[in-house]
Amino acid sequence: MVKKTIRDIDVKDKRVLVRVDFNVPLDKDNRVSDDTRIIEALPTINYLIEHSAKVVLLSHLGRPKGHIDEKYRMDPVAQRLSELLGREVAKVDDCVGDVPREAIERMQSGDVILLENVRFHLEEEKNDEKFSQQLAELADIYVNDAFGTAHRAHASTAGVSEFLPAVAGSLMEKELDILGRLLIHPERPFVAIMGGAKVSDKIAVVSNLLDKIDTMIIGGGMSNTFLQAQGYDVGKSLLETDKIELAKGLLAEAKNKGVKLLLPVDVVVAPGTAPDAEQKTVPVSQIPAEWMALDIGQETVTEFTEAMKTAYTIVWNGPMGVFEMEPFAKGTEAIALALAESKATTIVGGGDSVSAIKKTGVADKITHISTGGGAALEFLEGKVLPGVAVLLDK
Ligand code: 3PG
Repeated sequence: MVKKTIRDIDVKDKRVLVRVDFNVPLDKDNRVSDDTRIIEALPTINYLIEHSAKVVLLSHLGRPKGHIDEKYRMDPVAQRLSELLGREVAKVDDCVGDVPREAIERMQSGDVILLENVRFHLEEEKNDEKFSQQLAELADIYVNDAFGTAHRAHASTAGVSEFLPAVAGSLMEKELDILGRLLIHPERPFVAIMGGAKVSDKIAVVSNLLDKIDTMIIGGGMSNTFLQAQGYDVGKSLLETDKIELAKGLLAEAKNKGVKLLLPVDVVVAPGTAPDAEQKTVPVSQIPAEWMALDIGQETVTEFTEAMKTAYTIVWNGPMGVFEMEPFAKGTEAIALALAESKATTIVGGGDSVSAIKKTGVADKITHISTGGGAALEFLEGKVLPGVAVLLDK
């Protein structure tokens, strides 16, 4: 269902509560170390400024569990946003009650403020009705631009829409459009690359995508469970023994649906995860009993990247190994580079694969880097995200 957006509603001189996802990493000096999510929210903020709205931004940061936690205050975010906008964005010390109400009363059309971390209130994650109403009292219109948090049914992502006209921001619109096309009319051949530690995190997405894709590439920790399901012994590698049957089921399903499913043929193994551990590359049939697979091997890289060459659409979620350790990063970096070189529409989601893309320096060569980790996965699983469901239909 296509949702109404900020362009479908008159925002002039209105108080517009914009839920953004400014859940960004901070460095040890409490400065924003990756401002991608702030940059991605700028089109919505600028549109509202240009259309003379009073822009009241609201986000969570970290998981403070319903209490004030100094390290999760929104001040560093307000600081970075002020720099990016080239204008002062005041941070207001609470997100409900008199403090924000008075701050909003003082606003002129075109002003922007950022409210305090919404997760300092326990009621937020409970999607508490009274709290949602208190948030709604601050504004005339609600805009959800927090695609990254749209899989959470919280007060600021869902509940508040009961009390205000609710529309999508530009980032939300862009994410839904690009990811939606993947599920509805992807240009084929369509290749999905799944990685990361756990099969359990990706079962639903693998299963949903099997109906739409031509090739499924599985690497990273989760591939061990598939390899074990095929009868290989993966030694001390990460393995979800309770998911072996499920992996067998997915392998059979892929076969029935005519989807080519590629698993590693060789892996980089080591006795442990230390970066200076002794390591070697072995075929998957020869993983030593006491060693663990920590990256895909060169032959696998060749097979995987070869399969990507003919694709018109590629989606990637999850690293091919323990890429945060240099000796085990090559497989993940090779996939990032192959994506960058591909002529296909390339879409990357998930914190780890996005960091790998950035670390490899190819972010500008990717068609779309999603701001959603869990949200993008749930969307690709075919779920209706609560933060989207509540928005007005066109
Ligand atoms: C994210 O970073 O994935 C979103 O901001 C959601 O955060 P959460 O997992 O703490 O709900």
